[in-house]
Amino acid sequence: MTKISLPKHSKLLSSDFLFGVATSSFQIEGAADQRAPSIWDTFCAEPGRIKDGSDGLHACQHVKYWRQDLDIITELGVDAYRFSIAWGRVINADGSVNRQGLQFYIDLVDALLANGIQAHVTLYHWDLPQYLEDQGGWLNRDTAYRFAEYADIVGRALGNKVASYATINEPFCSAYLSYEAGIHAPGHKNRREGRQAAHHLLLAHGLAMPVLRRHAPQALHGIVLNFSPCHPASDSEADRQAALQAHQYHNLWYLQPLLEASYPDLLNQLPEADRPDIAADDMATIGQSLDFLGVNYYTRTVFREKNDWFSDVPPQAPPLTSMGWEIYPQGLTEILTDLNQRFANLPPIYITENGAAFPDEVRDNQVDDAARIDYYQQHLLAVHDCIEAGVTINGYFAWSLLDNFEWAEGYSKRFGIVYVDFDTQQRILKSSALALQTFWLQRKTQLPAVEAL
Ligand code: FCB
Repeated sequence: MTKISLPKHSKLLSSDFLFGVATSSFQIEGAADQRAPSIWDTFCAEPGRIKDGSDGLHACQHVKYWRQDLDIITELGVDAYRFSIAWGRVINADGSVNRQGLQFYIDLVDALLANGIQAHVTLYHWDLPQYLEDQGGWLNRDTAYRFAEYADIVGRALGNKVASYATINEPFCSAYLSYEAGIHAPGHKNRREGRQAAHHLLLAHGLAMPVLRRHAPQALHGIVLNFSPCHPASDSEADRQAALQAHQYHNLWYLQPLLEASYPDLLNQLPEADRPDIAADDMATIGQSLDFLGVNYYTRTVFREKNDWFSDVPPQAPPLTSMGWEIYPQGLTEILTDLNQRFANLPPIYITENGAAFPDEVRDNQVDDAARIDYYQQHLLAVHDCIEAGVTINGYFAWSLLDNFEWAEGYSKRFGIVYVDFDTQQRILKSSALALQTFWLQRKTQLPAVEAL
């Protein structure tokens, strides 16, 4: 596969569909000495937490090389850039504003706009300041209020210059993976804590929404959730029930509070001691209307029954990415058409992340990642299918612009369409970047070269 192409009439080719690339602060920025430490700095310093023993102190040194990175974004021909802001680069431990840190984002947004590229900002992509974790982190209800204050400062500084504000990226990961499964920072393993963290993350979203709307009435306001269709490992009644429970626990747990101001029924089936504390007005705060829903999609998940609960069955058969994730583009169409049927008030969607890690190698200063081109081709067709099936999808962001720090996997997994040599900080556009660039530029100039299938 060397080319990306879509049916001629595809909505994805129309000028009002948005294409972009995405990154997140901790994964690319570096310049750790110019911000407050985050829970990920602490986590990385704990032996055995990160597969390759690495950390995010330097990453892609994006704070230093951001102008070069912006040149790459511009050359790619995208309409938009999604990035996140590091809370600890904006607010110091004593509550004062880090002026230099905030200025970095103001300059970035101004430069994006000067290059004709929309800025899509995520306020929280997992890098909670350690000073807040020291007060209990997402287990402490107060953190949700601190988040609204942080949103106030960012909203005031960037206002309507930003096209869309997403409050939180993937609360599932910041709650479940971080407080229940112990895989992500801060590495807790406690069921009740996972649910409490999830609730406080959603509350933080709800508290920040009106603040952001006030400062940026012309911007779109929403949140980013990750979804994965949950399939049973077998036809047995037990496995089918397990898959349904997993769907409630991993997907609906985050979406239903936002759209219907309630948690799935599964909550009431949990032992009393494992349920989160929910204050009287919380659900109304969480369930305000959204201008958009950001959807991150990578793969499907298969579950079997285990002790009246569910347990995932890792895929064995190819095609798998180097994360061990099954390549399953039809899952994107399945989950979104499903949610569209289930929720009459599903907001317009941006696919805020989609992409794959493969074992890329540099040869003659080139990276031939045909498998990634194929991945994008298949998933763009899946987006096309969703739209044909009646789902409103207004944009698509490739994850990721750059190879970066892939959380607990460190630098061992490369998701970029641009290769990064972490020793020299050299960037090389992979074949996938070149294929997407051709597709994006042709689309922009509306040449007929965007082929019919
Ligand atoms: C998502 C995260 C993103 C990246 C991709 C691979 O869950 O939002 O930061 O790590 O997975």
